[in-house]
Amino acid sequence: MEKFKVSGPSRLSGEIDLDGAKNACLPIFCASLLSSEELNIFNVPRLGDVQTLLTLLKSLGVEIEVDFERKTCVLNSKGLCSNIVSYELVKTMRASILTLGPLLARMGEVKVSLPGGCAIGQRPVDQHIKGLEKMGADITLRDGYIDAKANKLRGARIVTDLITVTGTENLMMAACLAEGQTVIENAAREPEVVDLACCLKSMGAKIEGEGTDIIRIEGVEKLIAASHRVIPDRIEAGTFICAIAACGGQIFVKNFDRKIMGLAYEKLKSCGGEFLEVNGGLKVKFDQRPTSVSCQTSPFPGFATDMQAQLMAVNAVSDGIALIDESIFENRFMHVSEMQRMGADIKVKGRTAIVQGKKRLSAAKLMATDLRASAGLVVAALVADGESLIDRIYHLDRGYVNMDIKLAELGANVVRIRE
Ligand code: EPU
Repeated sequence: MEKFKVSGPSRLSGEIDLDGAKNACLPIFCASLLSSEELNIFNVPRLGDVQTLLTLLKSLGVEIEVDFERKTCVLNSKGLCSNIVSYELVKTMRASILTLGPLLARMGEVKVSLPGGCAIGQRPVDQHIKGLEKMGADITLRDGYIDAKANKLRGARIVTDLITVTGTENLMMAACLAEGQTVIENAAREPEVVDLACCLKSMGAKIEGEGTDIIRIEGVEKLIAASHRVIPDRIEAGTFICAIAACGGQIFVKNFDRKIMGLAYEKLKSCGGEFLEVNGGLKVKFDQRPTSVSCQTSPFPGFATDMQAQLMAVNAVSDGIALIDESIFENRFMHVSEMQRMGADIKVKGRTAIVQGKKRLSAAKLMATDLRASAGLVVAALVADGESLIDRIYHLDRGYVNMDIKLAELGANVVRIRE
């Protein structure tokens, strides 16, 4: 298993080029299942999750030409030959559930494994199922699988009980080939949902209202060949800004787009430092210890749960006390006990972490438990005194392209150890 050896404290300087957003790329890849014509995708990130999804799509008969050097991928689903998505694939990546809507709409029958719980919470998919049932699908849960059938999905008014990102994406994709109009109310407004809608529209879908909480989709007969460029990864941007806030120094974040950051940008600015948006990116400079910043995670445009662990690492070395409420997932504080082992002063009460900033953290042997928790541990290790070893770094590779190399280019002492 691979590890990161991080020798801190670091001071960072240089330029970082953001990769394409994982959580935009995954649904867009699944959108290719809706059409029998080519989908050309640009700005594709070389990530563990992207590779897992390509393996899955290949098993369904999708033709794939991927070039990670050029960040391009061409997907062609004209020869779809299977409608079964096995537990083996879904258990390694929950986003595999995003095949449910498109496969059902295209093939009329599908069997997708139920994802089950994961390291950050239970994460049910009842809203995906309820929405598809509203569109006329006949769904049974059997032997851990979702068996769904619908000769032709019908447009429907769907009001989701809660805001769900992949739920909105699944229903939006299914609705593209349904008969008549579908209205999704209480829809997720995340930039990745908007990017998916943008890709679907270039494939000929009729969608309105993406980016608001009511999305209207008018079903069409078929979708056609298209090209699409994936948006930059806002979570990668936020993670590197957290690293600079914790460590100090100066970086230029290329391709930075403030509009897709939501409240996270304001919170990061409240940590202190100087932020200057210039053509083509963002300059960030931190010369002093950051200021503590409280936050409550919530759907976009609120503070992203995917940034919570990284901001906690910043708060661990900030001046002041911060309250961090995790309101999206019930078990997303797995990084806390690891940060405590580095000397961080964090107390957890229910879904709130109380972080009293300390001047210094000390290095430790650390265990990554999920993707964003790992990113939080990397930020903490960068600023800690001494040599930290972070185990199970495969979690990080699922969602960050070459984080070790990108950090080393900024002057951090980070080495990947292969055993
Ligand atoms: N939920 C339900 N029923 C459902 C769907 C969701 O109860 O049918 C609950 C979840 O358990 C959770 C809340 O609703 O408590 C929100 O979950 P959501 O469905 O929005 O999450 P997701 O779509 O499974 C995506 C991202 C996550 C990100 C969340 C929240 C992708 C592939 N994944 O997950 O990303 O944390 O939205 O923004 O887009 C990550 O990248 O590390 C990651 C976990």
